[in-house]
Parts: sequence; C-alpha cells; structure tokens
Amino acid sequence: MGTHFKILAVLAVSLLLVTQSCKHSIDDDLPVPGNGSTDTTKVTQSDTCSPDTVSFQSEILPLIRSNCAMSGCHDAGSKQDGVELTNYDKIMQTGKIKPGDPSDSELYEVITDSDPDKVMPPPPASLTPEQKNAIRIWILQGAKNNSCANKCDTSNVTFSGNVWPIINTTCSGCHGGGSPQGGVAIRNYNDLKALVDNGHLISVLTRDGVRKPMPPGGPIEDCAMRQVQAWINDGAKDN
Ligand code: HEC
Repeated sequence: MGTHFKILAVLAVSLLLVTQSCKHSIDDDLPVPGNGSTDTTKVTQSDTCSPDTVSFQSEILPLIRSNCAMSGCHDAGSKQDGVELTNYDKIMQTGKIKPGDPSDSELYEVITDSDPDKVMPPPPASLTPEQKNAIRIWILQGAKNNSCANKCDTSNVTFSGNVWPIINTTCSGCHGGGSPQGGVAIRNYNDLKALVDNGHLISVLTRDGVRKPMPPGGPIEDCAMRQVQAWINDGAKDN
C-alpha cells in the first residue's frame, strides 16, 4: 500500500510539474509593470500580431502615457479626478474601458468630446484623429493587454517622446518630488543621464542582481525596455 501511495504521489507531483512548466513555457505571462505596486496583470499576447491589430503595450500605452499621464494630470502622484493612466489595470479601471464598446468607455468619450471645456487632453493638446482612432480600434478589438512584439518601434526612439514618458510614469512616483526614495532623484534628463553613465539604470531595469531591481513591483514591459536600450545604445541623447 505504501508503494501504491508513493507511486500515486510521484504521479501527482509530476502531473503538477508538467502543468506548471506548460504554463511557464508560454511566454505571455510577463508581469506588467505599474507604479511600483504589485501589479500582476498578465500580458495576454506577446507574440507577433497581424498588421491591423492594435497593440496595447507598443501603441496605446505609450500614447496614453505621453499625452495623459504627465505629472499634474493622470500620473500616480496626481490622479486628477481619481483617474490614473499609467498601466493596463489602471487604464481599464479608472478610464472605465468597456471592451468592444468605445462609445460606452469613458476614456474614449472624453478624448472625443466635442465640448472644448470637457475634451481631454484640454486643447490645444487634444489627440489627433489617428490617435483617437487607434484607441477606438483597440477597444473594439477587446481592449486586450496585448504586446505585439513586432510592433515595438525602436528605430526613432527619443528622450522626450519615448524614454521620459516611460520613466516619468514608472519611476517618478517614488523618485520625483521632495524626498526621492533611496536618495535617488530622477526628475529630469540630467538625473537619468547620470544613471545611464554609471550603469545603474540598466542594472536596475534588467534586474541583473547587482543593484536593487526597479521598479520594485516587476519589470517594465518588453517594448519599453527595448526602447530604453535603443536610446542608450544611440548615446542617451537629450532629444
Ligand atoms: C514603489 C517605489 C519605487 C519605484 C516605482 C521605483 N523605485 Fe527605484 N528605489 C525605490 C527604493 C525604495 C529604493 C531604495 C532601495 C533600497 O536601497 O533598498 C530605490 C532605489 C533605486 C536605485 C538605486 C539602486 C541601487 O541598488 O543602487 C535606482 C538606480 C532606482 N531606484 C531607479 C529606479 C528606476 C529607474 C525606476 C523606474 C523604472 C524606479 N527606481 C522605480 C523605490 C522605487
């Protein structure tokens, strides 16, 4: 009987291992970084996408980050009207996104509002028709947290257009302001450039074990990482 039990136990354990390893072999369960808190959202699709699929990680998130999640607006620190647009979870929740239904999704309603006093971002910074349409299609396609690695543009990465929006939304909540955590201030280009030059930025982002992994809650998404890397490789310019 003892033997039977052992065999059963071994079987059960191996079954568990098989299921577990299957789960982990799918390379889509990367954590999505947030403002440092424990954000366990999974990227549902990190493989290649068809040309007409809108990618949340590569297209929508950078667009929303650079146009809405600035300090004083909808970043983790300011959260105007309780709306924080820094990561997938927060965008879905506080932007009140209804997958498949743009006209019933608050975020889409406010970016397309015809009333100049209500439209977001306030004029003259309103989104372009192409940007609004990308958000519309993304919601119509189910508002997924998809990645579409093939759509990550690393060819024309700039500090102001790509890198700062990433850093500002993922790091500044803890490293901006009057008393930055760990005594590390990241408030502008010069602060960040210093972390590039001493190697600390790459060390914390790639979680190489030399410095503390940052952000603490989980790695930044793949596309953001590749863009930061491309920017550094290109000389980390103030462009
Ligand atoms: C939730 C708050 C939080 C967020 C978000 C955060 N950090 Fe940190 N960071 C800390 C704290 C706390 C420390 C000090 C850690 C320690 O010494 O244990 C720290 C330390 C650091 C250090 C020094 C690490 C070392 O070992 O020398 C760097 C560099 C850094 N952070 C960069 C970043 C960057 C870049 C980001 C964004 C990608 C980021 N941090 C996001 C809280 C945060």
